[in-house]
Amino acid sequence: MEGMIPKVRKAVFPAAGLGTRFLPATKAQPKEMLPLVDKPLIQYGVEEALHSGIQNIFIVTGRGKTAIEDHFDVSFELEQALEAKNKKDLLAIVRGVSDMINVAYVRQKEALGLGHAVLRASELVGPEPFAVVLSDDVIDAEVPCLRQLLDIYEFFGAPVLALMEVEGDAISAYGVVDAEAVPHNGGDNRLFRIRNLVEKPKPGEAPSKLAIIGRYVLTPEIFHSLDSIGPGSGGEIQLTDGLKHLLRNRPIYGYRFEGRRYDAGDKLGFLKATVEFALNRYDLGAEFREYLKQLSL
Ligand code: UTP
Repeated sequence: MEGMIPKVRKAVFPAAGLGTRFLPATKAQPKEMLPLVDKPLIQYGVEEALHSGIQNIFIVTGRGKTAIEDHFDVSFELEQALEAKNKKDLLAIVRGVSDMINVAYVRQKEALGLGHAVLRASELVGPEPFAVVLSDDVIDAEVPCLRQLLDIYEFFGAPVLALMEVEGDAISAYGVVDAEAVPHNGGDNRLFRIRNLVEKPKPGEAPSKLAIIGRYVLTPEIFHSLDSIGPGSGGEIQLTDGLKHLLRNRPIYGYRFEGRRYDAGDKLGFLKATVEFALNRYDLGAEFREYLKQLSL
């Protein structure tokens, strides 16, 4: 049907960054494989995509790619050993996610930036809309953050970025938007139309408190934009700069999502996420809470 908004069926997971904030743990493995309680970060992201209705997963890998590939592959020896020991629960956990997704990999040989990583997935994605998930941003939300963005996308058929309010100078670590509020859901002040974007503004120069975090719904025109721009902040091809290029002839929306985001690519953020996720676990939470209480802090 003409004018119908195409459905998002694919999600790109850039996982080729150097992870310098988490050295030495990230020397030989990508930070996306760091476990939060007992699951690697990237699996939380993949499950979020699945729960948002997306099953085709494209992972952009750099160093240590075998760890990610092995994680989503069948582990024949492990499955046999668990079967022999009749460990059915563990077997189901091991098989779970890899059974539910279609996964393909593409290599980013050099960490030339997030925009460059996304561009590497252009052939796999083809001429259709897609999601981007940065799995070092772990989001705890009642409705998966990506699902929240897809709901907006399905209305406008335009790119949607996840936004979060960040106070003070900490905003300089993010891509920041200048945006005007769009009436939505009885004035909940969550939906914005983007006027401009700036990657890592200097303190005092941020156009607002609204930072872009690691969930995006994009349309395929972004590939042309990423191809057209040169290196930006930090000498990298920035996704933010590609979006700014796209904004010249397409509307882009931002959505201040409901939920809590943890920057698990940062040591302190990772520790906070570990504590909160462990406290929320049905099998660990009670004992862990008791343990924390008896620490003399
Ligand atoms: P970050 O900005 O967190 O950079 O990347 P980084 O290099 O991974 O980590 P630090 O800052 O050095 O500690 C955001 C996301 O983009 C991916 C990363 O894997 C992460 O998911 N990325 C970044 C790439 O895939 N390729 C790149 O060239 C850069």
